[in-house]
Amino acid sequence: MNTHEILRQRFGYEAFRPGQEEVIRHILSGRDAIAIFPTGMGKSLCYQLPAYLLNGPVIVISPLVALMEDQVANLRKHKEKRVVAINSFLSKQEKDLALQTIDRYKFIFLSPEMLMQDGIQKLIQQLHIAFFVVDEAHCISEWGFDFRPDYLRLKEVFSEKERPPILALTATANEKVTTDITSYLQLRSPFIERQPIDRPAISYSLLHMENHHAKTEWIANRLITTVGPGIIYVASRKRADELAAIIHQKGIRVASYHGGKEQDERSIIQEQFVQGELDWICATNAFGMGIHKDDIRQIIHEHLPATPSAYIQEVGRAGRDGKKSSATLLYSERDIQKLKFIVYEDLPDDQQIRYYYSLLQSGISGKLAAEQSGLTEVAFRMLEYYFEHFDIENVIRQIRQIFQVKEHQIAEMEKYVQHEGCLREQLLSYFGEKLSVSNGDCCSNCHQLKEDWLIKTEVEQKVSNELDWKERLFQLLG
Ligand SMILES: Nc1ncnc2c1ncn2[C@@H]1O[C@H](COP(=O)(O)OP(=O)(O)OP(=O)(O)O)[C@@H](O)[C@H]1O
Ligand SMILES: [Mg+2]
Ligand SMILES: [Zn+2]
Repeated sequence: MNTHEILRQRFGYEAFRPGQEEVIRHILSGRDAIAIFPTGMGKSLCYQLPAYLLNGPVIVISPLVALMEDQVANLRKHKEKRVVAINSFLSKQEKDLALQTIDRYKFIFLSPEMLMQDGIQKLIQQLHIAFFVVDEAHCISEWGFDFRPDYLRLKEVFSEKERPPILALTATANEKVTTDITSYLQLRSPFIERQPIDRPAISYSLLHMENHHAKTEWIANRLITTVGPGIIYVASRKRADELAAIIHQKGIRVASYHGGKEQDERSIIQEQFVQGELDWICATNAFGMGIHKDDIRQIIHEHLPATPSAYIQEVGRAGRDGKKSSATLLYSERDIQKLKFIVYEDLPDDQQIRYYYSLLQSGISGKLAAEQSGLTEVAFRMLEYYFEHFDIENVIRQIRQIFQVKEHQIAEMEKYVQHEGCLREQLLSYFGEKLSVSNGDCCSNCHQLKEDWLIKTEVEQKVSNELDWKERLFQLLG
């Protein structure tokens, strides 16, 4: 069978989407590749399809359990039973069973942490892998609040001379991130396929607000008068719960979602949202990756995301069905300060690093040393990783470099909120992309956005208004 036949027979698609075929061809020829496609464009097919033309299993490294399960479900939908996801949510028994029968699988999903475990690494090295896939590969380069040192260690697994090709997938990667991916994974002159990240159907709004209170009011009113489904991104777990409670009181079907909730609860909320039983989610950045909901109409940011990549990634969850959608960023003066505080909190300064080091030298455990030098959990993980690889002076140098990158990204966000020209153009320029077609509803700086498609009809408004059960019953009975 050739690629087109598999595309039709196994996946039921008529044609490749732009870029897919090229990536697949290069992987089949044994070359490393990086595919940079916007959210929802079909990166998964780039590894799913060639798997059927090569011998041996495909290993997919994925950062989140939710993402893995989503991919597993997707493959099963296409009649593939030989899939397994090995992650921390398997019981010991389940995991042992999966590992004992590992050679039966065509697709093996692993978290980076799992892959780095000694036993698993050995096992993997005995399999004749067709190729490796690193999904959401920008995680390699996004240090900070979600620092995952094991992403940086992946190359240790790949290090043999005769290794299978590696395919890195991501929705957002500018030059810097592409370079990071190439060097951290030690890719060998990878084929790079980059599809435009602009999504013309999404209109951008930027609203300057006096303070927090004004934002809350705006959001409540917006949700009463305009349609969902939508996501409101907020800065903290506490705020997610708080805002969801306020909105809920207005009769809106909303739930909060963040890393502080149990996995079960998170799955339920996600499912309810996908099924249309919830219209809005108030979330931290923990929400969104791997959620297949095509009809999300609005993304609202109550806080300033830390990087343009994060912003475009979160906004990109809207309108995967290609229909009009809207992205609103609510900004108030102090947000830059808040963002700096959150980002820099996780980056230890020179003094802290030296103090931590001296404590280690005196024989104190890493954990205790971290506590005594006032490091956050993330900062601790980061230092632990760097001290394994570098001496003290180089650790300091590395952390300073990260600081500069962060500083640069925050400056880019600051530019965005102060930009007076086209917002879309400004955002795209960070990724080295030019504005292509001027779209009717571009952004709030280009012209007054009409967005009449967003307005709820009177009936819809009524329904979401706070009705007690009598009124509801009355309405039902006419
Ligand atoms: N050639 C194709 N023709 C039609 N539909 C396709 C094609 N390729 C992929 N799709 C569909 O596009 C949807 C999105 O694909 P996928 O999940 O791979 O996106 P993604 O690029 O990985 O996005 P994300 O960044 O959100 O992970 C899926 O429902 C998939 O079935
Ligand atoms: Mg994907
Ligand atoms: Zn514009």
